[in-house]
Parts: sequence; C-alpha cells; structure tokens
Amino acid sequence: MRCFVLLLAVFAISQSHMTTRIPLHKGKSLRNNLKEHGLLEDFLRRYQYEFTAKDSNFGVVASEPLTNYLDSEYFGTIYVGTPPQEFTVVFDTGSSELWVPSVYCSSRVCQTHHRFDPSKSFTFQNLSQPLFVQYGTGRVEGFLGYDTVTVSNIVVSHQTVGLSTQEPGDIFTYSPFDGILGLAYPSLSSKYSVPIFDNMMNRHLVAQDLFSVYMSRDDQGSMLTLGAIDQSYFVGSLYWVPVTVQGYWQFTVDRITINGEVVACQGGCPAILDTGTALLAGPARDILNIQQAIGAVQGQYDQFDIDCWRLGIMPTIVFEIHGREFPLPPSAYTNQVVGSCSSGFKPSSQGMWILGDVFIREFYSVFDRANNRIGLAKAI
Ligand SMILES: *[C@@H]1O[C@H](CO)[C@@H](O)[C@H](O)[C@H]1NC(C)=O
Repeated sequence: MRCFVLLLAVFAISQSHMTTRIPLHKGKSLRNNLKEHGLLEDFLRRYQYEFTAKDSNFGVVASEPLTNYLDSEYFGTIYVGTPPQEFTVVFDTGSSELWVPSVYCSSRVCQTHHRFDPSKSFTFQNLSQPLFVQYGTGRVEGFLGYDTVTVSNIVVSHQTVGLSTQEPGDIFTYSPFDGILGLAYPSLSSKYSVPIFDNMMNRHLVAQDLFSVYMSRDDQGSMLTLGAIDQSYFVGSLYWVPVTVQGYWQFTVDRITINGEVVACQGGCPAILDTGTALLAGPARDILNIQQAIGAVQGQYDQFDIDCWRLGIMPTIVFEIHGREFPLPPSAYTNQVVGSCSSGFKPSSQGMWILGDVFIREFYSVFDRANNRIGLAKAI
C-alpha cells in the first residue's frame, strides 16, 4: 500500500504540476526532478522491475499475500469503493465474477461478514443488472454495479462488482472470507461484467498479461503475483501446457498412473486448474479406482479415510500432462489433521477433473492469458 501511494504521488506530480514536497520546475523531467532531490536512486531501485517489465506502458507487478485457512481456502484482501471498504476474497480461477456481500443482504451469512455499502462510496454506479453465480457448492444472488477495486498496488476504476443480496444455503455462513474474485476467462462471467483481470490487461495495468500462484502449506507465505512469474517460489523450470477451452483454465490430462499402470483418465481427459477448489476432484469411477489403489475407505460425509501409518507405504500418483509427469507423493494427496488422515481425492459431479489446492501446493502455477497456457513447476 505504501509503495502504491508513493508511485501514484510521483505520477500525479509529473501529470498535474501540483505543488508538493518535491517542487516541480517547469520543463524538467520527472527523472531530473527526482535526481535533484536525491530520490532517483531510491525510486528506481523500488520500481526497476515494474519499469523494465514492460517498457512503454505503466504496468506493474502486484504481490498479493494469501492466507491459508486449514489447507482448504486461500484468500486475500481487496478494497472496493471510495473511500475504500475492505473485504477478504478467494482469488478463484474456477469462476469469473467478482462479488462481495452488500448491506442489502440481511441474512445470517451476510451479518457474519463485511458488507459493502454503496451509499458510502462516491464512485459507485448501479449497473442495474442481476448478479447470479452458481458454484459447485452454492449460489449467490444480487445486482451488479461499477466501482473502484484495489488489489495490492493495482487500482481498477469502473470495475464490475457484484453486490450479493442473498447467499442461499449454508456454504458461506462459516467461510472465513467475504466474497470471491474470479480469475477465469470472460466467457464464464455475466454478459454485463468484465472480469477484473481483463480490465487489468486491457488498461495495461499489469507488467505482463499473466498471474501466478504459490500455495504454501503454512498459514502464511502464500502469494498471488499479478503481472509476473516469481522464480523464488519454484525449482527447475516451468513446463507449459496449452489451454484447450477458454472458459475455465482447462487443459488435457493424458493419463493418471501408479507405478506406470493407468488408474484413471484412460485415453486422456479434460481437467481444470482451480485455486477455488480444495481437493482433487474427478469422475466417480476414476476416483473410486484411486481410493482403492491407495487403500482409502469411505468414511462419514463422502470423506475417504486412510490409516495414517500407511502414508509411508502408499504409492506416488502421477498425472501425465502434455507429455510430462507431475508426481504427487502421499504427503501431497492426503490431508492430515490432528492424527487422522484422509484422501485428497473426491468424486465430482462434473465430468471434468478439477485440480485444486492439493495439486497447486505441489506445483507453482502460472496462468498465462497472453499465450493461453498454464505453466507448472515444482513448488519450493
Ligand atoms: C440497483 O439496481 C437494482 C436493479 O435495478 C435494484 O434492485 C437495486 O435496489 C439498486 N441498488 C442501488 C443501491 O441503487
């Protein structure tokens, strides 16, 4: 936030010739002004990366820290409106709409979360179109508006924002986050809204038209990087996989194997990379096969239990994607909570494979809109 204020302040000086602590002499460049006041070095050091990343446009790199909630949700903080109102959101590559609870939602689920009050934002405009999003696990209804949305050091004005008035069902009641920020392709959003990353690209707000996700196993340390790939979060090199359908971040898995034997996804299958899903979900038959192969047995609530002592003898499960092997060891595909262990695989109602946080914790993921491809590398 501090960096962003400084950057904008300097930008404003160069634009408007306002008097500030750095007096601007007519005809002098921003560079000379900063130099004269001994600030150039500091300024360049801070913003070197942003400036070299994309020469002519003013695109930046934004580092948005994510909080890991019980390995099942990763969320960060955004601001909506002027003056800014604060919300926590899941940055979800499995959807494209951005919404937050509104003061017009009076149910219990909204009362336990931050609610946006458009009457307290002088940049809010009502779009007067309905918000309706169906997720795998629930639904959100309300209306759409425009307002300024801030993510880290990126400010997006006139951004479509959904204001929920109803969040039927129980799924958001106990959620540790307020809303959802969709990072999938525009084809999944309502025809009245432009997804926020599309606005960032169209207005050259990001240094590169891609974003990357590192999901840590610890509470803190996870990161969404908008506009750049952060080499410090992976080892080796990225392997690029083409996006096959531009809706979700969809691609093809060639097969899933254990010790070279196909256990699922025979002959290839469609899959999506989804930061908003906790587990690895797939067609019921495939999933049952895998549960059997790893010795997981059906427990309560669709969960498949594993005796923790078996972790040491369970096999590595290999996802073969675009000719490359992505192995998941038992430590990656099992959940271990206070002495009880369960499988990270679950049946999905959709026909597709959904590679969620279980997979992304293991593989740093780059979502490259410029080239419509996904980059995967072994996470640190
Ligand atoms: C915005 O428009 C919708 C649909 O016309 C309406 O239901 C809602 O009350 C309006 N909200 C505000 C804050 O103007």
